[in-house]
Amino acid sequence: MIFDTHAHYDDRQFDEDRDELLRSMSENGVGTIVNVSASYASCERVVNMVKDYPFMYAAVGIHPDEVGDLNEASFARMKELFQRDKVVAVGEIGLDYYWDQESHDLQKEWFIRQLKLAGELKLPVLIHSREAAADTMEIMKEYARGLKGVIHCYSYSKEMAAEYVRMGFYIGVGGVVTFKNGRKLKETVKEIPLEAIVLETDCPYLAPEPFRGKRNHSMYIRYVAEEIARLKGITYEEVIRQTEKNAAKLYSV
Ligand code: NI
Repeated sequence: MIFDTHAHYDDRQFDEDRDELLRSMSENGVGTIVNVSASYASCERVVNMVKDYPFMYAAVGIHPDEVGDLNEASFARMKELFQRDKVVAVGEIGLDYYWDQESHDLQKEWFIRQLKLAGELKLPVLIHSREAAADTMEIMKEYARGLKGVIHCYSYSKEMAAEYVRMGFYIGVGGVVTFKNGRKLKETVKEIPLEAIVLETDCPYLAPEPFRGKRNHSMYIRYVAEEIARLKGITYEEVIRQTEKNAAKLYSV
């Protein structure tokens, strides 16, 4: 079944039909979802949500755009959430020089501290990196050694993807692979083995074609898997089966 390794179901865009939508997942081929926090406020929300859905797990971490909310006290409270049930990863964390909401120094500081936390907790990391390829790689080489994880919403070169795969990381592939201007990601998918790919929505964002621009959800991963199958010349079923296996191994679920 489909394993959505990266979703944001606490987002307001799901307020109207969240429960109904989530309860229809399994009959529509979605087997597992990891609900990922981004802001400080969302950490507690995603951890609380997983109690209601047996197929859902949580990731706790602060997105680079939101690290301005972190200080010693809030970081300590965030760390306490890892003692709760079904928290399987640290994320999403990283660097975002596209939106550039926070200074690069502050982004790097909290990225490194959250990588170290993942090392202490022996949990995988979900990496967000946008227009920060070189700095992300440098920090990953120094501080993510021995960690498992996903380079989420991968947007860099196929050569760099291959390097992350050699370092033991998975490449997260979502709706962008179906876009007409998704050429770089299509090349990456062709280049790296299926054993190194995990599927993700990043919903409510990044809906695949033919729903580009609309609200995304985990059932639309079907279109992502179909495109990966086409690019690699394999069956849809093989993509679903192998990526589910990859994700289960990554999160130990
Ligand atoms: Ni995300």
